[in-house]
Amino acid sequence: MSDYKRILVTAALPYANGPLHIGHLAGCYIPADIYVRYQRAKKRDVKFVGGSDEHGVPITIRALKEGVSPQEIVDKYHEQIKESFVQMGISFDIYSRTSNKVHHETAADFFKNLYDKGLFEEKETEQYYDEKTKTFLADRYIVGTCPVCGNDNAYGDQCEKCGSSLSPEQLINPRSALSDAIPIKKKTKHWYFPLQQYEPWLQEWLIEGHKEWKNNVYGQCKSWLDQGLQPRAMTRDSNWGVKVPLPDAEGKVLYVWFDAPIGYISATKELTGQWEDYWKKEDTKLVHFIGKDNIVFHCIIFPSMLKAHGEYVLPDNVPANEFLNIEGEKVSTSRNWAVWVHEYVKDFPGSEDVLRYVLCANAPETKDNDFTWKDFQDRNNSELVAIFGNFVNRAFVLMHKLCNGKVPPLHASVLDAVDEQMISDIEKSKTEIEQSLEQYKFRDALFSVIDLARKGNQYMQKKEPWILVKKLAENPQNQLLIDNTLHISLQLTANLAILINPFLPNTAQKMIYMMKVVDKILDWENAGKMKLLSVGYSLRPPELLFRKMEDEEILAQVEKLRSGSANATKPITNISNEMEESKSNSLKPEIVYDDFDKLDLRIGTILSAEKVAKADKLLKLEVTLGFEKRTIVSGIAQHFTPEELIDKQVVIVANLAPRKLKGIESNGMILTAEEPGGKLILINPATLTLPGSNVK
Ligand code: MF3
Ligand code: ZN
Repeated sequence: MSDYKRILVTAALPYANGPLHIGHLAGCYIPADIYVRYQRAKKRDVKFVGGSDEHGVPITIRALKEGVSPQEIVDKYHEQIKESFVQMGISFDIYSRTSNKVHHETAADFFKNLYDKGLFEEKETEQYYDEKTKTFLADRYIVGTCPVCGNDNAYGDQCEKCGSSLSPEQLINPRSALSDAIPIKKKTKHWYFPLQQYEPWLQEWLIEGHKEWKNNVYGQCKSWLDQGLQPRAMTRDSNWGVKVPLPDAEGKVLYVWFDAPIGYISATKELTGQWEDYWKKEDTKLVHFIGKDNIVFHCIIFPSMLKAHGEYVLPDNVPANEFLNIEGEKVSTSRNWAVWVHEYVKDFPGSEDVLRYVLCANAPETKDNDFTWKDFQDRNNSELVAIFGNFVNRAFVLMHKLCNGKVPPLHASVLDAVDEQMISDIEKSKTEIEQSLEQYKFRDALFSVIDLARKGNQYMQKKEPWILVKKLAENPQNQLLIDNTLHISLQLTANLAILINPFLPNTAQKMIYMMKVVDKILDWENAGKMKLLSVGYSLRPPELLFRKMEDEEILAQVEKLRSGSANATKPITNISNEMEESKSNSLKPEIVYDDFDKLDLRIGTILSAEKVAKADKLLKLEVTLGFEKRTIVSGIAQHFTPEELIDKQVVIVANLAPRKLKGIESNGMILTAEEPGGKLILINPATLTLPGSNVK
């Protein structure tokens, strides 16, 4: 280990344009938090910074679609994400945001510093522009016909049908994904960072100097460098972001990947007056926790920026994780194929540690990994409940039964090889766990903790104090043996609290409550010791650390996932029995086109939803059509909760005469499909659509 004095840990700033899902947690927040909690327990000087990434094109597009300002979008999600982190025990020292003033100043100064050094190349190029929405279109926002396979909905950077990688120029009949307008070419000037000049330095610093980085990270960096680096535009045409701090830069902002990592610096500034120590002193160890899609930015681009600036330290490590799939499929937020953190904490209150456990045990540390609800249940029931929880519970129950609720003494005279082995296993585990944690091998570390608890169970099984007590009358010696077993088991329990603390902080807290000891006991230096609980000290009765997860609640989650995801299962094409038997197969009398044409059907986005007082079927919805907002009262309260409707897109009858329901004027109607069993389903467009669009 090198001789650093302080550690600065960062975790990728999530985009504030949607809620947090478990892929985010597994990718970087859980490992970062474990690392930081361990370092704090080691009494090292460590700071953990994070925040919301509030700039970038996706946020402006989302705002455009919802007919609100980007600020409104980021305000909403910043709060929600921050709360999810608190609930999951992600213990940031500061959780900031990039729309803050400090950040705008810090990022602008950084840019100005590089500009004044004459580093940027100024280049004028022609880019696609949408005159209708007045935006320059990033490649993703141009669609057209693929020249290779003829797919009509290929993107400007890639055709998802045949996989060809494309440039917008290659698309036949390009159109704007925002408005369908035909984009024109327009000249625009930008500032390019000459990444290629940093190749020799990156070769030395990263390729030669950081061979210890994880294979998945190192390999990706090497292949980027082998392909050769290009100058990269560090500015964009937009009104949302950090303004380019130059006189002739109206309508230009910093590229989101230029400003976002500087967010780590601004957050540290906000956190402490000593921020320069963490960023500018050589004996700082800077560690970036990220997901794999962020590797090039954190290992190549940001370090080159820091190097160019010259005053800052460089990352010591970037332990990126791969992706976590769910039930065998890639997470897709647009298809709602995700497990949302704010929903998990509602569905499993008090079981935050279980999710932390499963996400660490299954962390995609070296390759993509899969989260399944079945595995979640198995790990909970057979590892947390049956091994860890069971051992702690047994130690407490037996101590209350056989030792008067007090920590019994240790009698050296009757200590045997099995006891000695247990004691040395505790010490060994500590070293093992510590080594794994220092090397960012969180799964291994966690398995060593569980393994130690497993050894505790085996120890108890060998010693059988419940049998010894039966023959106490003829063998008074037995009490000494019982005392030893429970003394060692209780010291082991205290050790387990220390060792599990970085992973499952709530569980560690419950354990120290049961042991009636202070927080201080969790200091890492106490691990491996056998005198954590004093002889004669009385302990509280046990509490269950984990509860068994039943099949029903697990199946309900699988069901929720599948039903929430429109395209996850193949559409049903065969005629079901229910449909055959129901009346819905007898159609209404024929109409002519003009009858249909009287309806004005539009796409709307639900902005808010609330129950209507004294009406158990009604919900009051605020819906935007882009050009106007409507209040619609809908009789769907028994089918949908207000929360699940927010942000959903729906089809509405926009020219229905207003009517009053419970005193509220309703302006329109929401379309739903009703299954024969009476279940209601929202009719919602397959992809995010501009509100106000006509439905024909
Ligand atoms: N918002 C980015 C993402 O979610 C991560 C930004 S990390 C930072 O992929 F370095 F830019 F802060
Ligand atoms: Zn194609």
